[in-house]
Amino acid sequence: MLEWSRPWEMVLDTSEAPFWKWFTGGELNASHNCLDRHLARRGDKVAYHFVPEDEKEPLQSLTYRELYRRVNEFAVLLREFAGLRKGDRVTFHLPMTPELPISMLAAARLGVVHSEVFGGFSGQACGARIADSGSSVLVTLDGYARNGRTIDHKANADVAVETARKLGQEVRKVLVWRRYPGRDLSQAPMVEGRDYYVDELLPRFRGTQVPPEPVRSEDPLFLMYTSGTTGKPKGCQHSTGGYLAYVTGTSRYVLDLQEDDIYWCMADIGWITGHSYIVYGPLSLGATSVLYEGVPSYPDAARPWRLSESLGVTVFHTSPTAIRQLRKSLPEGPRGHNVRFRLLTTVGEPIEPEVWKWYFDVVGGGRAAITDTWWQTETGGFLCSTLPAVHPMKPGSAGPPLPGIFPVILDEDGREVPKGMGHAGNLCIRNPWPGVLQTIWGSPERYVAQYYHRYSKKPGSKDWRDWPYLTGDGAIEGADGYFRIIGRIDDVIKVAGHRLGAKELESACLTVPEVAEAAAVPLADEVKGRVPDIYVSLKPGSASSPEVVDKVRQSIVGLIGKIAAPQHVYVVEDMPKTRSGKIMRRVLAALSNGADCGDTSTLVNPEVVENIRRTVGTGASPKTGLSREAILQEVRDLD
Ligand code: WTA
Repeated sequence: MLEWSRPWEMVLDTSEAPFWKWFTGGELNASHNCLDRHLARRGDKVAYHFVPEDEKEPLQSLTYRELYRRVNEFAVLLREFAGLRKGDRVTFHLPMTPELPISMLAAARLGVVHSEVFGGFSGQACGARIADSGSSVLVTLDGYARNGRTIDHKANADVAVETARKLGQEVRKVLVWRRYPGRDLSQAPMVEGRDYYVDELLPRFRGTQVPPEPVRSEDPLFLMYTSGTTGKPKGCQHSTGGYLAYVTGTSRYVLDLQEDDIYWCMADIGWITGHSYIVYGPLSLGATSVLYEGVPSYPDAARPWRLSESLGVTVFHTSPTAIRQLRKSLPEGPRGHNVRFRLLTTVGEPIEPEVWKWYFDVVGGGRAAITDTWWQTETGGFLCSTLPAVHPMKPGSAGPPLPGIFPVILDEDGREVPKGMGHAGNLCIRNPWPGVLQTIWGSPERYVAQYYHRYSKKPGSKDWRDWPYLTGDGAIEGADGYFRIIGRIDDVIKVAGHRLGAKELESACLTVPEVAEAAAVPLADEVKGRVPDIYVSLKPGSASSPEVVDKVRQSIVGLIGKIAAPQHVYVVEDMPKTRSGKIMRRVLAALSNGADCGDTSTLVNPEVVENIRRTVGTGASPKTGLSREAILQEVRDLD
């Protein structure tokens, strides 16, 4: 499905296991595969229908030819004006407008490694990622619409550059796209000699082109930072050949994108779903996609259905959080709209069977197939899913593995849990596949420790059989070979599908001078699945006050972003602890969720539990259909 400028010599090279190399000897360019090769046959076909959030603002339809022109001009700008060369890293902090895929493909055209930071992350979070990736150029946008308001986004760039500088990384140039060329949506001043409006520079490059730079199959295409067990986000490094092959193949077979489909994925390109299934997969197949700027429920919950009707969307892709939200605010869904979905996809969190049924009956009218796709930032593309119209569907279960993927459930001692046993274990993948991450940027040791150390029996082995990949998810394999994902078992909290590390939240709390200890636990939420609840204890001499609570909240929002805002911040006199000083997060999670705390006799201070219960009250009662026990399984105690 791809065009290679040089064919590969070996499919999988395991000589440096577990650093997998796919299609070695081969050369290709991702931008060529997403654009140039379509020009002859699909030049006038629409690549993206860009839909502004404001319904009065006209739709912009970009054909493959138009996208090709804009990508080339920006690629020349990146090379000539910003001085970027093959192998350099460039950071983007861009929201959902066409400038994001244009910037990605322009970088890919030059062999420059892009690192897009989700637009909703704070300037500080962006700065930390700039520093880690060693980018000296930041590409951003002045402002955009979100929930009817204009967000001043450029202001984040100033914080990001300052944060990166403190961490030892100088940003030479900040390129600012303007949402409306010539008109400024940001109040932030432009810094002389550092900040440039892209629309003022582009006329110099009008009509220019860059030949796509052939890169080796295993040269990195992009970095995507994600949260894990530790406080520091890790830059998952994805290859060019293996990744592009995997997302192109899965877009064909799971999303079933056909020549005349209109495909709308409501995810944000700032996350892996958007990279793989709004940009690289669909464009590589020459598909037509919808790119929507704003919030799905703006100005009302019928917006997605009006839009789907007017554009004739046939394949629709979203998250359980969005489905729960749409169901809650408009239970009749698209009824009364002439929608013609044939395939509906869900991704990012477990979907409750009753939510699944609403998606099937009401959104799909009982006619559309549903694919519940399970995968991760690290995996590049889908790993488990039913194939539409091929496999029977089972609500609440992601389904069988895709061809070439061999999942296995291992217990604590590394023994296989046979299928149909009904109990959960650590979901691992036995074999490497083309989309798997190559490494963690700058931390090969962390890559091995995080994903392979747990079950590798023979360090130094060159045999892939010795390196099962640890997903960090708990799952159950049914007798039918379908996998039901329970949730994370590594202190990652999925908030509205966004992946947040409990440790990152805790580190943010600890920057508040009064705070001595902090614990972040998941609280069940009817729409978002999970939201963080925060417990802090204060240093001697500091007293609880609304100001302290506010500081904790502000530090989380400032260091990570609004998506991480906690539901509650509880100031407690002491944390429940074991004799060895472990904070019993499980007890706190039970209190937050109104569940039974279990055996507290091992605590050194069992009396604090009752005090905390009084502070918290009876706790939230989960109306999500997910059991409290499922939440408690996601929580580990803190050393
Ligand atoms: C969870 C998102 C249940 C899972 C693509 C995984 C899911 C984490 C599903 C990765 C699904 C993703 N059913 N859980 N269909 N898809 N997850 O890196 O816990 O943002 O490990 O990638 O989301 O989140 P990430």
